[in-house]
Amino acid sequence: MGTFSAYSIVTATIFFLALAFPLLTSGEGGFTHDCAYAGASLTDKHHWIGIYCLNDNLDIYGFNYSMLDLDRCAGNNAGQLVAFENGNYSGSCENCTFIHDKSLHLSCLCWDMNGKQTSSTLDLNNTLYDSNGAVGCYSFLGNKSWEPESDP
Ligand SMILES: *[C@@H]1O[C@H](CO)[C@@H](O)[C@H](O)[C@H]1NC(C)=O
Ligand SMILES: *[C@@H]1O[C@H](CO)[C@@H](O)[C@H](O)[C@H]1NC(C)=O
Ligand SMILES: *[C@@H]1O[C@H](CO)[C@@H](O)[C@H](O)[C@H]1NC(C)=O
Ligand SMILES: *[C@@H]1O[C@H](CO)[C@@H](O)[C@H](O)[C@H]1NC(C)=O
Ligand SMILES: *[C@@H]1O[C@H](CO)[C@@H](O)[C@H](O)[C@H]1NC(C)=O
Repeated sequence: MGTFSAYSIVTATIFFLALAFPLLTSGEGGFTHDCAYAGASLTDKHHWIGIYCLNDNLDIYGFNYSMLDLDRCAGNNAGQLVAFENGNYSGSCENCTFIHDKSLHLSCLCWDMNGKQTSSTLDLNNTLYDSNGAVGCYSFLGNKSWEPESDP
């Protein structure tokens, strides 16, 4: 019985550290640690990401939902998706989807300078960040208490 209790305490401590670690890295670029990217979706506006991210409420391990216009974060450079402030990728890229693996990628067909569509992907872990539960890129932050109207 005594052995079992000690084992439980060790297990509980490891579990606690596993939960605490992503919170400690919040805001330091570990986007895929801090945001529930499996739930990320391109919203009805097509180039908006909607996603849950951890906030600084350590007691309850809190999440908030926010949305961000990816046109503020990504651009089309000669047919390649790139991280670019106010890049407006959606004006010249189509058929965009998210790819979930260890990270979260945006994949699109983008028009190049020869008038051909090229497939490319952008690793959003290096582009987006978590700011106390709101998703952001560059100087832009999603609003945790706002949802855009969906397309008619
Ligand atoms: C995401 O970025 C963070 C910080 O730059 C890095 O520590 C982490 O390994 C990255 N994760 C993935 C899955 O690429
Ligand atoms: C963010 O989530 C916390 C719970 O973690 C909640 O108390 C708070 O009201 C949320 N903020 C907004 C703006 O919805
Ligand atoms: C993207 O669109 C915004 C808002 O319409 C504009 O201010 C910005 O200059 C555009 N960026 C580029 C790279 O064209
Ligand atoms: C892109 O999407 C359009 C509309 O859904 C579809 O008709 C087209 O086949 C797609 N193109 C490719 C290369 O997947
Ligand atoms: C966030 O959205 C709410 C609801 O639309 C609005 O009242 C508030 O002013 C917005 N906050 C910011 C910082 O834009």
